[in-house]
Amino acid sequence: MNLFSQLFYWILLLSPLTKEMPERETKYQNGFFEHNGYTLDYQLLYPEHFDPTHPYPLLVFLPEQASSAENPALENALKSYPAVLLLPRKPEEASWTTEPLMEAVMGLIAAQQQLPHIHPDRLYLLGAATGATMVWELLGRIPEKIAAAVSVGGSPALDAGSRSLQVPVWAFHGGKDAASSLRTIERIQTDGGPAKISVFPQMGHEMLDTVLADPGLFPWLFSKFRNEVSSPRVEALLAQMTLEEKIGQLNLVNQGGAVTGTVISQEVENKIRQGQVGGIFGTRGAAKLRKIQQIAVEESRLGIPLITGMDVIHGHQTVFPIPLGISCTWDLELIERSARIAAREATADGLMWNFSPMVDISRDPRWGRIAESNGEDPFLSAAISAAMVRGYQQNDLSDPTTMAACVKHYAAYGAPEGGRDYGTVDMGKVKLHNEYLPPYKAAVDAGVASVMTSFNVVDYLPATANDELLNRVLREQWGFKGFVVTDYTSVNEMIAHGLGDLREVSARSLKAGVDMDMVGEGFLTTLQASLESGLVAVEDIDRACRRILLIKEKLGLLDDPYRYFDEVRAEKEILAAEHRAFARELGAKVQVLLKNEGNVLPLQKSAKIALVGPLADSRRNMMGTWSVSGDFDKSVTVLEGLQAQIGSEGQLFYAKGANISDDPAFAARVNVFGQEITIDPRSPELMIQEALEAAEKADIIVAVMGEAADMSGEASSMADISLQASQQRLLRALKGTGKPIVLVLFNGRPMTLVWENQNMDAILDVWHTGIEAGNAIADVLFGEVNPSGKLSTSFPVHVGQIPVYHSMLNTGRPWDGTGGPKFKSNYLDIPNDPLYPFGYGLSYTTFEFGTPVLSATLMQDKIALSVTVKNTGTRAGEETVQLYLRDVAASISRPVKELKGFKKVFLEPGASTTVRFIIDQDLLKFYNSNLDFVAEPGEFQVFVGPNSRDVQQLSFTYNP
Ligand code: NOJ
Repeated sequence: MNLFSQLFYWILLLSPLTKEMPERETKYQNGFFEHNGYTLDYQLLYPEHFDPTHPYPLLVFLPEQASSAENPALENALKSYPAVLLLPRKPEEASWTTEPLMEAVMGLIAAQQQLPHIHPDRLYLLGAATGATMVWELLGRIPEKIAAAVSVGGSPALDAGSRSLQVPVWAFHGGKDAASSLRTIERIQTDGGPAKISVFPQMGHEMLDTVLADPGLFPWLFSKFRNEVSSPRVEALLAQMTLEEKIGQLNLVNQGGAVTGTVISQEVENKIRQGQVGGIFGTRGAAKLRKIQQIAVEESRLGIPLITGMDVIHGHQTVFPIPLGISCTWDLELIERSARIAAREATADGLMWNFSPMVDISRDPRWGRIAESNGEDPFLSAAISAAMVRGYQQNDLSDPTTMAACVKHYAAYGAPEGGRDYGTVDMGKVKLHNEYLPPYKAAVDAGVASVMTSFNVVDYLPATANDELLNRVLREQWGFKGFVVTDYTSVNEMIAHGLGDLREVSARSLKAGVDMDMVGEGFLTTLQASLESGLVAVEDIDRACRRILLIKEKLGLLDDPYRYFDEVRAEKEILAAEHRAFARELGAKVQVLLKNEGNVLPLQKSAKIALVGPLADSRRNMMGTWSVSGDFDKSVTVLEGLQAQIGSEGQLFYAKGANISDDPAFAARVNVFGQEITIDPRSPELMIQEALEAAEKADIIVAVMGEAADMSGEASSMADISLQASQQRLLRALKGTGKPIVLVLFNGRPMTLVWENQNMDAILDVWHTGIEAGNAIADVLFGEVNPSGKLSTSFPVHVGQIPVYHSMLNTGRPWDGTGGPKFKSNYLDIPNDPLYPFGYGLSYTTFEFGTPVLSATLMQDKIALSVTVKNTGTRAGEETVQLYLRDVAASISRPVKELKGFKKVFLEPGASTTVRFIIDQDLLKFYNSNLDFVAEPGEFQVFVGPNSRDVQQLSFTYNP
């Protein structure tokens, strides 16, 4: 090696070291900022592991001794609470309080807020002496930008206090200015703002170091960065609590009642007495819950009230159609009303917390819980999610007719392998963020009070211990401020997932951001030991407890623990006539007309109708899965509904015709909550014979078939999603009569209906229609209501096609459905397309779409798409106009079509209207490979139509 190459070799070897240098140097940066002749000399301090791609809060530090950047307390704080520290120093001759200098400080702050790694609305202030006076000054000037403020000495600017109601302020005080600070703080507290004060009798500049060394200061100051808020009342309560009592608040029990998991909590009342319970669920009734609350309030040491929860999934005692059905209304106003009514009834029944909305995206109809979901699409489901939260919470948890919502199951619970409940979920982050997370986020944006974790793993880590999902995405990125509860024993289930023993998994769960443990008592029984061994810190327990107490405070329980137990309300509101009327209206709106050949529907009331099928007179099955508070005996059967509306000259001939299933073993597995599938003593042949006799006397056959209520729902996955063999036999026999057949289908999932589609004259999907099922179905069958439901999930041709959904990627070898299929993406034996596509549903009238028009083909900021829709039939009806987009060439492969807008229009016969959609940049955005949410310039296709298949297409170029 010659000298030159030796030198080169050493440079190469040392280069990693030399690379380190600039990083260390950039930890401190000096700068100047000029404004109106004032020069601010400032120093920026970056945290230890500074990541310029991450948004940091900006801490504006305004002390007299600002130059001591080596302050160890500060350095330490920034290790756990990343922030960019700004230390403005005035020019020698200036005084901090002059107006131009204040302007310069605000200019400097504004300039920093433009930087991509600075969070523009998370400004923290910490100032001593005149710096503290400036803190007050800034609180008065830009309160909306400030996340939290601390003043050490210094007197408050005159009206800063009243403007700082939303901002937590902590003043350290003593000395001559104490009185005015105290007055301001007191005023903020009285008006309900978060504020606290610590008085140091000898307060002065020299106290800054003492203040910074206070272990509570930085966690408090940065609590907003971690999206935590607090209140003086909750802090005061926390200060009185023992460790056991704090852990007790994290424990959620189920005493029996509606049991929705594998174990029941033991010794509940005793535990409540000992302060070992924070909430209870599954029990309802104002009187019953009042008694339980009394134990907490009167017999436990601190009398902290319990939160009372329940699964109020689709209506409370007035049971509405199943959520999958409700999502087919695409009617957000109606959906919000359904949640509002559910909350009215539930709160009158002693409940203040609801494990709803369930917004798991599901594209696998084998999964039974698709019934509880809003179907396959993130855009539609996100809109519904927000509407439900608004309906339950009304933006005002202090109103005792509203309840805290709980969005679930975070995250991606709807995508288990093989459609088997509780199964493994495995998907890439791009898919997770683009297609599965939006509905949870929509709930958070709508202010949802709580989030439930899911049972499944996400990227091999159970959601219940998933720091990335809970601390990073939910809290840091989305700004969630409520509390996180596990699903039923999902902490304990992490042992089976292979993550360790109960102590280990409980600690991991708490650390990852879970606050409340449902039923499993892992927190209750192990956290104390984990604290002693250092697996968790007392701050972890305090944080979780604080979040739970805050919701209790918001619900008004700290003022009146009994405000939800009003038996007078229960009497008046539960099952009120107007609620049932709404259930009927909603029940009609959820129905999707899948086929109507020769316009056999609507039926004439004067017709002779053979009403056959195992669900035609089945009170037990009308409400569907997850109707834990419903009284099945109060539901209206299809037979009753038709009878009530049939004209004097019309006739109804009823025969059961078949069992839902003839298989006793299958029936036993379905019938866990009651006799939903009853196997008739008559033979299948005899029952078919009776149905044929009824058909013989009639002009038309209405066959009411499908799934029992709990053939879908939790732990009700099915590999075969076609009609049960017993029902198929009946249908085929009826087909032999040659009479027109209307199939009225009860189902909690999309089913495979190829034969039915070919052989039935009409198919009306009624889902599980709720307490008013029979009336609502009769309303549609007789044309009192024109059906308007549109599918929120595709119906596969065959289970082998699953998943099939409208927003698939294209593949490199797409098949256009024609020509030779070899070496193209397709099946040899079935088509690629679903039987009924997403967004599909017929009406008794017809609608015609005009040619859509774009306001421009070049989009900079936004463009509009307009399309005229005309009712060309003879009945008034509702159409749902749907907008889809495709990003033609992007940095990653994008779906062939994604729903991006929908509008419902009601049109009289012959009437038309123009529907207009605004397409803006937000609609074009997606999470790219780096998980940045971006709109990329280039060509976009836009589609509009009555469903995802029958669309007209235009295109535009996005060039901002
Ligand atoms: C388990 C279910 O997964 C969840 O949805 C429900 O809220 C809880 N049990 C409580 O009933």
